[in-house]
Amino acid sequence: MALKDRDPLEVFDAWLEKASRKEINNPTAMTLATAGKDGRPAARMVLLKGFGPDGFVFYTNLDSPKSHQIRENPYAALLFHWKTLNRQVRIEGRVEQVSDDEADAYFATRPRASQIGAWASRQSATLDGWAELEKRVAIYAARFNVGPVPRPEFWSGFCLQPERFEFWKEGKFRLHKRFIFKRSEGAADQWSVRQVFP
Ligand SMILES: Cc1cc2nc3c(=O)[nH]c(=O)nc-3n(C[C@H](O)[C@H](O)[C@H](O)COP(=O)(O)O)c2cc1C
Repeated sequence: MALKDRDPLEVFDAWLEKASRKEINNPTAMTLATAGKDGRPAARMVLLKGFGPDGFVFYTNLDSPKSHQIRENPYAALLFHWKTLNRQVRIEGRVEQVSDDEADAYFATRPRASQIGAWASRQSATLDGWAELEKRVAIYAARFNVGPVPRPEFWSGFCLQPERFEFWKEGKFRLHKRFIFKRSEGAADQWSVRQVFP
């Protein structure tokens, strides 16, 4: 079936599956672009940890700059670029924090050292030296000893509900193929699609 006749989630799923077979590492790595109330965009990589009709989910520290920006302005953009496929996907929409139950369930699947790392890291705050981080890791490792490590309240996930997708496929001599899907107003499961110039 032609790309324009398919559901954008289905297209994304197929492209990610292809990328997962070819990329050397992190096929789920995506750029997350946010802008807080000062209107200045900021971009960084995060890992996609789930996607479906509800949206695209990533996890992070809730006190980090990105989380502050999302709270100030809940609109964000995601970008995938798979070099081995010469393909790009842009996704834009509104972001909401996932439920505590969803975050707990995901946190429980993480390696124990990553769980302790989440407690120890004051993400993006100034670090006086590596020893400060090592000390905090040791403190939390001792605190949880051999018991389970609960999810810190300051660590959770966000879900971006797509309103717009763009699929970009490299063509010869820069005649790239681009298809834009926009969610139809009033019919959340309907999309309009158009092809645009490269
Ligand atoms: C490939 C890759 C994946 C990353 N995944 C995550 C992630 O899933 N969550 C996260 O908080 N930071 C992740 N990071 C680190 C972020 O890019 C960033 O440095 C950090 O979240 C702080 O961002 P902020 O100061 O804008 O909040 C990743 C970095 C790279 C290079």
